[in-house]
Amino acid sequence: MIELQNVSRSFGDAKLVQALNQVNLRLAQGERVAVMGPSGSGKSTLLNLICGLDEPSTGAIKIDNVDIASLDDDSRTRLRRQKIGMIFQTFNLLPTLTALENVSLPLRLNGVAKKDAEQRATAMLQKVGLAGRAAHRPDQMSGGERQRIAIARALIFAPPVLLADEPTGNLDSKTGEEILALLDELHREFNTTILMVTHNEEAALHCDRVIRLRDGQIISSSAVTARTAEGQ
Ligand SMILES: Nc1ncnc2c1ncn2[C@@H]1O[C@H](COP(=O)(O)OP(=O)(O)OP(=O)(O)O)[C@@H](O)[C@H]1O
Ligand SMILES: [Mg+2]
Repeated sequence: MIELQNVSRSFGDAKLVQALNQVNLRLAQGERVAVMGPSGSGKSTLLNLICGLDEPSTGAIKIDNVDIASLDDDSRTRLRRQKIGMIFQTFNLLPTLTALENVSLPLRLNGVAKKDAEQRATAMLQKVGLAGRAAHRPDQMSGGERQRIAIARALIFAPPVLLADEPTGNLDSKTGEEILALLDELHREFNTTILMVTHNEEAALHCDRVIRLRDGQIISSSAVTARTAEGQ
């Protein structure tokens, strides 16, 4: 489903930052993987590369056996719109659109009629507990509310792949649990492949596997067992 082969990404020239260094990773369809690691270890860089918003300096990234570097811009955009839901660390909501419009957007871009899209977006806002904020713009909402709008936007088209950058980072533990339950539900219903950056061990228990990054390298990959999932 998703495969990274010897992927490196460096930034700058005089003083080179090696954000990712020779990363190899395979995600099977329906697999849920938590990405953990200290600040600056390359987690967001990894997600940006997989969703095609950034390009590796060296190495290859394949989605369903297609090397995304071989696609032109239009095809890459289409792939992202159809297959990948992304929850950004900084949310990336469109500031001039209301919550309802932000959440409807992926459907509209995929050609769904406005009325239908807004109906589905309304239901999704309800699921993230923000039915009462439909007409609010991002600057009229709290950080946690914006995060939930970003989550609703990513989930609205039930993408086969979900990339989530600290999706519960700004939420209190109860709201965070609700969001994780929503991801569980999505996974159960659609067998969604999930790659989720988190600093939270509890959130990692909602995954099948945990990979740990340090200095741009994967230093460990371990299965989440039922035993650990029970907190023993
Ligand atoms: N556009 C960029 N230009 C220059 N350096 C960058 C750029 N993006 C990331 N970096 C550097 O690459 C490294 C990895 O960054 P990244 O954002 O992937 O870290 P992270 O693991 O997501 O950290 P955090 O937990 O703080 O979000 C950092 O040292 C960062 O400063
Ligand atoms: Mg990050």
